[in-house]
Amino acid sequence: MQWQLTFLLIGLCEVLQAQELRVNDKVTGNLLQEALLPCSFVSADQNARVSQAIWFKDGANIAAYSPALGIKVKDSDRIQFVNPSDTSTPLRITKLLASDEGKYTCEVSIFPEGNFKGTTQLNVQAVPQNSANVVQVVAGDQEMTVATCTSANGRPPAQITWQTSVPGNVTTDMTNNTDGTYTLISNYRITPTWTADGEKITCTVTHDGKETAIPLKLSVQYTPVVTIEGYDDNWHLNRKGASLTCNAQGNPPPTIFKWTTANGSPLPPSVHVNGKILYVDQMDENVNTTFKCEVTNAIGSRASQQEVLVREKPNSSGAGTTGGIIGGIIAAIVAVAVVATVLMICRQQRKNRTAKEDEEFEGPPAYKPPPPTIKRPTEEAKEEELLELKPPIHFIETTDELQMTPNKDPLPMNIEFPSAADDDYLEQLNPIYNELSLPESASHKEDQGFMMSPAVYV
Ligand SMILES: *[C@@H]1O[C@H](CO)[C@@H](O)[C@H](O)[C@H]1NC(C)=O
Ligand SMILES: *[C@@H]1O[C@H](CO)[C@@H](O)[C@H](O)[C@H]1NC(C)=O
Ligand SMILES: *[C@@H]1O[C@H](CO)[C@@H](O)[C@H](O)[C@H]1NC(C)=O
Ligand SMILES: *[C@@H]1O[C@H](CO)[C@@H](O)[C@H](O)[C@H]1NC(C)=O
Repeated sequence: MQWQLTFLLIGLCEVLQAQELRVNDKVTGNLLQEALLPCSFVSADQNARVSQAIWFKDGANIAAYSPALGIKVKDSDRIQFVNPSDTSTPLRITKLLASDEGKYTCEVSIFPEGNFKGTTQLNVQAVPQNSANVVQVVAGDQEMTVATCTSANGRPPAQITWQTSVPGNVTTDMTNNTDGTYTLISNYRITPTWTADGEKITCTVTHDGKETAIPLKLSVQYTPVVTIEGYDDNWHLNRKGASLTCNAQGNPPPTIFKWTTANGSPLPPSVHVNGKILYVDQMDENVNTTFKCEVTNAIGSRASQQEVLVREKPNSSGAGTTGGIIGGIIAAIVAVAVVATVLMICRQQRKNRTAKEDEEFEGPPAYKPPPPTIKRPTEEAKEEELLELKPPIHFIETTDELQMTPNKDPLPMNIEFPSAADDDYLEQLNPIYNELSLPESASHKEDQGFMMSPAVYV
């Protein structure tokens, strides 16, 4: 409400006064291009006329216009009035320089209204050229530059950040160019290890709110990293068709794989080599040695060794033997069978118990006593129940028989012992009573005491 009123008043004022000098608060121009600074007088008075207009830059007079006396501009090669008229005296600056940045004030004398002025901030910017490259290095323990990112000739200065999982240090240098632009060179420095090879790294240049991401991959050259695969600690006389594989990583990729024995003796006649794989056609005493694989790339060579033990007989406890596999399978089958049995028993018991609980919680109307003809399963259930109920039974036996039970009643609710006539009630209260007592004498006192225990227990 207040807002609308304010606007209304301002509007009213404008209509009444209806005169103002219009300039832009802010103008941005690109280096070497041009910028236009508007300045116009708005009035309801048809007869209002600019009698003189002067543009100041940071307080200094740079251009003057008078309908009577003409135009005077300091740097007329680059600065002009654009179609000056009785009400408008815009200024154009061409071939923008960084030094053109500043506060421009348009000051006009209006006849007959008087003097008006307005100020515009002119910013000169330059979009930088961004580039990045990796510096290929050789693994070592000296920290060195592995990637460089350049943002050249930007204004205002750009910002450079790096994103990578490889820990390192950043050094960034800025050069203030004579044209008012800035050049940034940022280096990413690490102590190059072979694990950094091929890792991703991104240089992000931020300028004028825009981000430019340049993704790269590090390149660290290193001598091959070698491992030997294929020995299962169960090499024995006369075993056939085993092999050792020489795995190697390297930058540049390894070119030469050389298999030898560690002690310098020639390779046994029962092995043959094909590139990175050493095949053992049939094992004999000569294979009982240490094999060495040496891998070479442009950076250097590295070797790995595999000690081999040739046994007289197969190692039956070894995980790789057929016997071991069969034994393992049998053991697994037995284990599965045991687990399955246990699970089945547990499930059966839970089913019995939940069935009982359901009956209890459903309440009297839902309960239906099982027909006496199919008693056999419940007999079994009772036996399970007996097992579960051992502790309460024990309690009754060790105390002063029946006398104790009702008095020391461990029930949370005070349930009285029902007489034989109260069978129905007891059934509703505890269905187990029914299940257990039907085949036996319900009037037996000991049974009654015993019968209560399920309620205690459940
Ligand atoms: C970064 O520089 C610090 C100080 O010069 C140095 O201790 C550290 O090891 C460098 N970090 C890496 C990853 O090179
Ligand atoms: C370069 O420009 C920045 C930002 O304008 C300024 O802070 C710095 O002092 C300048 N450096 C040199 C050497 O002129
Ligand atoms: C292999 O050498 C080991 C000792 O290094 C020895 O105990 C074993 O008997 C040798 N095996 C054969 C088949 O000669
Ligand atoms: C058989 O191989 C296993 C596992 O490789 C090893 O622990 C065990 O010592 C070997 N048995 C013999 C007799 O060498």
